[in-house]
Amino acid sequence: MKLDVLALFPEIIIPALQTGILKRIQDIGGLTINVYNLRDWATDRHKSVDDYPYGGGAGMILKPEPLFAAVKTLNTTSDANVVFLTPQGSPLTQSLVEAMSLETHIILICGRYKGIDERVRQQIVTTEISIGDYVLSGGEIAALVLIDAIGRVLPGALGDFESAHEDSFSQDLLDHPHYTRPAVYEGMEVPQVLLSGHHENIKKWRQVEALKRTAQCRPDLLQNLELSDEELNILNTPKNGS
Ligand code: ADE
Repeated sequence: MKLDVLALFPEIIIPALQTGILKRIQDIGGLTINVYNLRDWATDRHKSVDDYPYGGGAGMILKPEPLFAAVKTLNTTSDANVVFLTPQGSPLTQSLVEAMSLETHIILICGRYKGIDERVRQQIVTTEISIGDYVLSGGEIAALVLIDAIGRVLPGALGDFESAHEDSFSQDLLDHPHYTRPAVYEGMEVPQVLLSGHHENIKKWRQVEALKRTAQCRPDLLQNLELSDEELNILNTPKNGS
């Protein structure tokens, strides 16, 4: 996959690409990321990328010329998904991340100031994505969130494919609790089943705990699921469901 990022502050993004899983996935060739400064496509001698809004009002607007020119340069085969990071976009979810991880070329446009010229949205943006219902000072951090989420599900990123497969949300549920040594810490014990070595029981315990945790922390997620009678029973048993 190739990811091109258009930003006014590339320095927010670049250091994060040089560590951890994002570095690994680039090193093994699973992902190529290029971060560009939108100012490189400015057309006037002041290299300006923003201008006052027609009709008046507060805030500056990203001009159309640099964005049209940049996307024209980068989208050579015209088949890239041109994504604009904006609070008005579709909410970013794990299933959207997984769908995007199958694409071959994504161009991310990071907004700044009050927004972008509407003609850019209409003519070149193919997808609008929001990372949450709050307003950031620009799209760079949102782009990083998206890049990180995509990068870690690409084959080879985690070393062990299972670990992405068993993440929170990958089965539409939150992750189950985890424990590591010691088996007893200041009187607090690791659940016995995890020490039993009984793989079937451990698997079952994890499924039940993921369900209970989701019911407790994010009950809204359960509304989209078809729960089996057994699962409904677990949730309706006060001791388990609480
Ligand atoms: N730019 C500013 N706020 C944003 C948000 N919540 N999501 C994506 N891009 C943004």
